[in-house]
Amino acid sequence: MAKKKLRLTVNGHRIEKDVEESMRLLDVLREELFLTGTKEGCGIGECGACTVVLDGKAVNSCMVLALSADGGIVETVEGLGSRSKLHPVQEAFLDHHALQCGFCTPGMLMSAKALLDENSNPSEEEIKEAISGNLCRCTGYVQIVDAIKDAAGRRNNLG
Ligand code: FES
Ligand code: FES
Repeated sequence: MAKKKLRLTVNGHRIEKDVEESMRLLDVLREELFLTGTKEGCGIGECGACTVVLDGKAVNSCMVLALSADGGIVETVEGLGSRSKLHPVQEAFLDHHALQCGFCTPGMLMSAKALLDENSNPSEEEIKEAISGNLCRCTGYVQIVDAIKDAAGRRNNLG
């Protein structure tokens, strides 16, 4: 199959790849760039495990054709924080025990990040709405919502 050039900025790095037209953004991230923090659950836009931030919005990367994102800015969980300096939302997830198996966590974190970038002081309803596309089979969501609320406070305190 013919390939076309894809240009993206991923976690602050410019990349260029020749990709097949049928490749999804998820495939490019995991198979071409080896950013396997982004997970594939359902593959049909229903679980949110594959959530990344594309041009400032949380998207299901399994539902985005890679070439349709050409020129875009992509953030994945690998770009969120570092081992020595976690992102406030990562710190809050740890402190609130907002993960168990962790499969949903990268997607949850990216949905939370997109929300907090847009709305620094979200209500509980806004948090629930922002993660409504992210399924978690383990936690029951209470700790996740608490963690995102706390992360908002931490970010605001950082100024
Ligand atoms: S893997 Fe993309 S929404 Fe489930
Ligand atoms: S922590 Fe297991 S699915 Fe959410």
